[in-house]
Amino acid sequence: MSSGLEVKNLQKHFGGIVVANNICLDLKPGDRKALIGPNGAGKTTFANLLTGTLMPESGSIRLDGADILSLKESKRVRAGVAKTFQITTLFKAMSVRENIRLPILERERKSLNWLSSSASFPEVENEIEQLLTQFNLETFADLRVQDLAYGQQRLVEMALTLALKPRILILDEPSAGVPTSDAHIIIEAIERLPQDLAVLIIEHDMKLVFRVAARIVVLVNGAILLEGSPEEIAGNQQVRDLYLGASHAH
Ligand SMILES: Nc1ncnc2c1ncn2[C@@H]1O[C@H](COP(=O)(O)OP(=O)(O)O)[C@@H](O)[C@H]1O
Ligand SMILES: [Mg+2]
Repeated sequence: MSSGLEVKNLQKHFGGIVVANNICLDLKPGDRKALIGPNGAGKTTFANLLTGTLMPESGSIRLDGADILSLKESKRVRAGVAKTFQITTLFKAMSVRENIRLPILERERKSLNWLSSSASFPEVENEIEQLLTQFNLETFADLRVQDLAYGQQRLVEMALTLALKPRILILDEPSAGVPTSDAHIIIEAIERLPQDLAVLIIEHDMKLVFRVAARIVVLVNGAILLEGSPEEIAGNQQVRDLYLGASHAH
């Protein structure tokens, strides 16, 4: 039985436009794969097909050999496929600690009790501390999310997603909106993710991509143009023409 995520022949149209054209992609435990491509290439659509936000017209998505395409979004998260929370889904007036507590309780199905007492779940509080440490957020733990710098808010999003204990993590533009001077904190956070986690990074920032990704997949017009090592991608003339060399690359 194959381990990890196995995507085969995903097909999806929006009206007359092919947004996923026969996409095949594997993500094994420990993989650090980046998905790059010009604006409108279909990267976000692909992420949404993986999470179940969108359904393809055909193709298959398997996790450890088992079909997950038939699972709706919340069930796929429970199966282990998670995309980072978006900043807008954070409770910005709540503290970092309170935000991280929510997905842990959700995962443990203790949500109904969370208002009554957090003290009754010391293991939850321990896990929050571990996540705070992992993401260098200890000093911000009791600050409201809205009072954090944008880069730190993105770390909170990652911490929340990791609290779901995914096996496949999809990061959709983790450094978007983060000032260049703070990009390193996102890179460091990705580098400190659990080793056996499979990570797919959708990202515009090529410096980040080449720092963290061992494999790079180039998507153009909904289709995979090529997959290769960072060296292969950087040296490919077609990629340079289409994407890396273009000043409008996004
Ligand atoms: N909900 C939608 N309905 C119709 N067209 C869409 C929708 N979402 C995205 N598109 C189109 O699908 C294509 C791929 O978009 P997207 O996946 O967002 O690309 P990327 O993330 O690579 O920039 C684009 O042409 C975009 O305009
Ligand atoms: Mg996108």
